[in-house]
Amino acid sequence: MSIISLPFQYPGYLALQSGLKGDEPSGFVHNEVFLMSAREHYDRVAKKYSRMLTSGIGGQLKGREKDALMRLLSPKSGETILDAGCGSGFYADMIRKSGAQVLCIDISPAMIEVVRTLGLDAQVHDIQSLNLDMRFDKILCAGPLEFCKQPLKALQNMRRHVSEDGYIVLSVLNISMMGLAYWFYHVSHGVKITLYTLNGITNLLNQAGFDVEIVERPVSFLFAIRARPK
Ligand SMILES: C[S@@+](CC[C@H](N)C(=O)[O-])C[C@H]1O[C@@H](n2cnc3c(N)ncnc32)[C@H](O)[C@@H]1O
Repeated sequence: MSIISLPFQYPGYLALQSGLKGDEPSGFVHNEVFLMSAREHYDRVAKKYSRMLTSGIGGQLKGREKDALMRLLSPKSGETILDAGCGSGFYADMIRKSGAQVLCIDISPAMIEVVRTLGLDAQVHDIQSLNLDMRFDKILCAGPLEFCKQPLKALQNMRRHVSEDGYIVLSVLNISMMGLAYWFYHVSHGVKITLYTLNGITNLLNQAGFDVEIVERPVSFLFAIRARPK
């Protein structure tokens, strides 16, 4: 049952109608109608994405996310780190500067092109079907889970790619005013996203074979989480 009624039949509204069901354990999910995939959306914005991330108030908020995630990840020289859902390489570039070896993956070929121009090792992959036949000391997953239809599958795949004494660091948007604003922003171009409750993401991590070690909230609308293989 839709809990919001809008007078217009625009694409985002159709997605919104199907979306506000809240019948998934992890928060708001809309699974029936979508008009653009995450891949298409990020292909469209890839060239300007770095600018979008770092300008204005968004840039300040990204800075707070960055401080938390980089502290939790704590990359070290010689480590191997997978940046899953790397976007335009915001984190991968910093990880590389720590001396760690970073592999970037993203579902968007245009994002991967941008990352390669930075001289980073980058490949197109969907984390929901990831199978690299290798393990990493650490995995960073900042922002793609919101776009996954099968977030459990994505986390299970990352579990298979992290070493037994390593860990995963992830950020997810929670159900909050800013989270909803982000949700509406994506609905407006027909992209479906999921917002997570702390219980929802913790349950998914547990089911995927992780124990949550640290949860931080660097900004009100975001959970920054470190989780280790059980
Ligand atoms: C919000 S952006 C964050 C990018 C980057 N991690 C950052 O923090 O700047 C989410 C990224 O996840 C990617 N993504 C979405 N779904 C994905 C999937 N199933 N597999 C891999 N990447 C995905 C998108 O293409 C996009 O680049």
